Amino acid sequence: MKNKYSSLNTIKQLWPFISPNKKALIVAIIALLLNAATDATLISLTKPLLDNGLMDKNYDILVLFSIGIIGLIALRGLSNFCSTYCLSWLSGKVVTKFRQLIFNHLIKSPTSFLNKNPIGELVTVITYNTQLLSKASSDALIILVREIAYAIGLGIVMFYGNWKLASVLIIVVPVVIFIVQFIAKKFRHALISMQKGIGTITTAADEMMKGHKEILVYNAQKYEKENFYTINKIFRQGLLKIVLVSGLSSPIIQLVATTALGLILFLVANQTLDITPGSFTVVFSSMVAMMRPLRELTSVHLELQKGSVACESLFALLNTPLEEDNGKIELKGLEYDIVFHHVTYTYPTNSSPSLKNISFTIKQGETVALVGRSGAGKSTIASLLPRFYDILKGEILIDSIDIKQYTLRSLRDQIGYVSQQVHLFNGTIADNIAYGAKNRYTRQDIIEAAKQANAMEFIDKLENGIDTEIGDNGILLSGGQRQRIAIARVLLRNNPILIFDEATSALDNESERLVQQAIERLQKNRTSIVIAHRLSTIEKADRILVIDGGQLVEDGTHQSLLSQNGLYASMYQLQFNS
Ligand SMILES: Nc1ncnc2c1ncn2[C@@H]1O[C@H](COP(=O)(O)OP(=O)(O)OP(=O)(O)O)[C@@H](O)[C@H]1O
Ligand SMILES: [Mg+2]
Repeated sequence: MKNKYSSLNTIKQLWPFISPNKKALIVAIIALLLNAATDATLISLTKPLLDNGLMDKNYDILVLFSIGIIGLIALRGLSNFCSTYCLSWLSGKVVTKFRQLIFNHLIKSPTSFLNKNPIGELVTVITYNTQLLSKASSDALIILVREIAYAIGLGIVMFYGNWKLASVLIIVVPVVIFIVQFIAKKFRHALISMQKGIGTITTAADEMMKGHKEILVYNAQKYEKENFYTINKIFRQGLLKIVLVSGLSSPIIQLVATTALGLILFLVANQTLDITPGSFTVVFSSMVAMMRPLRELTSVHLELQKGSVACESLFALLNTPLEEDNGKIELKGLEYDIVFHHVTYTYPTNSSPSLKNISFTIKQGETVALVGRSGAGKSTIASLLPRFYDILKGEILIDSIDIKQYTLRSLRDQIGYVSQQVHLFNGTIADNIAYGAKNRYTRQDIIEAAKQANAMEFIDKLENGIDTEIGDNGILLSGGQRQRIAIARVLLRNNPILIFDEATSALDNESERLVQQAIERLQKNRTSIVIAHRLSTIEKADRILVIDGGQLVEDGTHQSLLSQNGLYASMYQLQFNS
């Protein structure tokens, strides 16, 4: 097959995940073979049972049979249980490993990758595709091993029963193989589109819940409902196509096989075949029993297709590039300065640059404010320093060394960052303040940081204090409360470089003044970048950089910029007058 993700290839790619648990696989295969053998033996027993036992009235044989059959059935049940258990255990292991691997990969993926890909589709890969892969591969294995062995066993039983009769039936095999291959090809396309469909459904449902308030206030329920209806319908149609293909395949194959069966009856009726009741029953029931492996082997192709399609998207995701982390130097703190040197940055999804040839220096200990109109590029500047995005043109230096030469971990360890869209994690307030480093700080440290961020004032009023659960993304808190938690997070960590992107924008004047005091206390001996629209909060900054249209247009202190009478002065006038 020319497809790179053919079933065989899938198995090859999966092998490293399975091989550590080879033993379970071997036990399962032995159990499956045993299971097929007992089935075939049971059928083959009908010949001596009829010819010798019943026809010849040999009752000793019948007694022997009754014991033998019980033993065989017990063996059949045991082997069935054994194979199912071992395979479930194994596929559980594989799925868990895959999920973890993908989760680990996504965590290390660049921000730009996550910006580009709908979250719903990525979640689908983690939840659905891994499950699909495991189910498909264990089902496929069961079918491949057991049913092939069963079919071979039945074949032997048939030839042993009556070779002439059996030869007639063998003609069916190539016809069945041809049909199977034809169906498999059709099936693959339907599967791929269905998998995409699940991703879109997840995305749409996720958006509906996250944007619930917007939907309500814009009266967009009807629009969203219709949108979802369309997505849902497309998915249903895709699913139906799959059912159509797989549903038609079994009857067609059974029809072919039954025709062969009819042929036998015809031959027997014409007395072309000389046959005993025992061998006729054996061949006949073998043929009927052969339906199961034939049917299953058609569906195995489909299962394998399902597995390989799931596998394709899993490996495609695992092969996307990770965040670049080739630096070797450990950054221990900031001694001299941070330098942006002719930095130009274009987001991967955009065609024009968001930052154009920006150069400035921030000395150790300085507080520098970034101001400018909305969309000017302030947040973009702030997100380049922790390397959320990597620049291709220009350089960003910390203590004269390109930030790419530092290890990502040590670089980010130096930076305290309050983003414009604060994200809080599902958990308690204390968990969120000490996020990712709970064992490094005591309860007292956490409370102290919360006090400094002026957050204790509202936390104290909550029933469980800092142990209060705040819900998904801190939904149970107000905007200003969330910001104060985020500020407490930074205060606790004590990093030498601080970035506050609109960190106090959601606070009232009084709270802002208090939090501002805490921030100012923190800024002593530290280097900070503050972004604010409310210019009154940054008047005291050592320097103010005015950004406009991705360019640095003014640079100076509050006083010097006012006297320059440029963009800053006009922005200030506008705010001051209102
Ligand atoms: N993740 C992103 N992907 C693509 N383009 C982006 C992304 N973030 C920002 N941009 C674009 O980059 C430009 C600068 O955005 P940025 O967020 O830096 O502005 P800002 O000065 O922080 O504005 P605001 O004051 O509104 O926060 C904008 O034109 C915006 O459309
Ligand atoms: Mg911004």
